[in-house]
Amino acid sequence: MRSAAAVSMRPQYPLQRVPESPLPVQGVTMKLLFDTDPGVDDAMALLFLHRHPAARLLGITTVFGNAEIDVTTRNALHLCERFGIAAPVARGAALPLVRPPRGAAPEVHGDDGLGNLEGPLHATREPDARPAHRFIVDTLREHPGEVTLVAVGPLTNLALALAEDPAITGLVHRVVVMGGVFGVGGQGGNVSPVAEANILSDPHAADAVFTAPWPVTIVGLDVTHRVLMDHACFERLRAQGGAEGAFIWQASRHYVGFYGRAVGVAGCYVHDASAVACALRPELFTLRAGPVRVVDQGLAIGQTIQRTGGRRYVHATDWDGLPDQQVAVDVQAAELLALFEHTLRRPAPGHAC
Ligand code: BDR
Ligand code: CA
Repeated sequence: MRSAAAVSMRPQYPLQRVPESPLPVQGVTMKLLFDTDPGVDDAMALLFLHRHPAARLLGITTVFGNAEIDVTTRNALHLCERFGIAAPVARGAALPLVRPPRGAAPEVHGDDGLGNLEGPLHATREPDARPAHRFIVDTLREHPGEVTLVAVGPLTNLALALAEDPAITGLVHRVVVMGGVFGVGGQGGNVSPVAEANILSDPHAADAVFTAPWPVTIVGLDVTHRVLMDHACFERLRAQGGAEGAFIWQASRHYVGFYGRAVGVAGCYVHDASAVACALRPELFTLRAGPVRVVDQGLAIGQTIQRTGGRRYVHATDWDGLPDQQVAVDVQAAELLALFEHTLRRPAPGHAC
């Protein structure tokens, strides 16, 4: 078995530690939108957000990815009903912008997208009448400068929102994306040697999102492969994490099995919840600044590349005039895991210890 700690992380370029987050301070809340393709680790991230005292979830937008859009939307609605999450759910894109769809990932997330749970997954609530990209635009306009947009699936909804209303780049507080891989410490992709799943699912959308003039923080495999949730943590959540903890244990059995067989780790990597943690507690991450582009064709399709340093390249003008985005190159993994676990193990609101 390979341990996450064995991955070498010695970056050779100027790095930046983000300032201490103002959170969590009693009574201070962060407004968030969650764009997601549930997905086992998406469900873990959603429940983490739901239980975090500083998070105020304004809405959930769904996208194809780990399963077809009907399934990811049904799963989001089911999770909301099951755990009393009041935020509206808006159904999003069914297909990538340009490239053919890669298809669902039942071998990772199960046939139902939630780890092959027993019994049919009901959802009686209806989605919001608006498509996801319109819901994103409307929400950013209603709360100018206040909303952190956390995206943990293919970036199609965000690209459509940008196309519909480019002015949203000046209205968002921050965009935090789970996706990509930048080769830090030799880290490779999870769907090709150079590509991560969310980005390969819609590389054109990802390139539009990363090159837009809004502040994006990218939490890729370089850091999520250092955040390994082990069996003991799952067992503690099952025993002491209330209904959410028991659900996470159950839904993750298939996912953990996949990681054991395919990657040889004991537990699973915490992808999507790491992006949520980066939104809530950015000081747990070390970030590297520079423009980011995505390869959208050929052998390296889906590869994410960051230009580091200020050099301009005379024969590569596609890199000129782009905004710097922040790429996570290191993470305080133990602290992140403790944050996740303790958030889920907090007594539910209204319940005495
Ligand atoms: C990403 O791909 C999906 O399988 C997960 O939900 C996560 O968002 C990891 O590469
Ligand atoms: Ca996801």
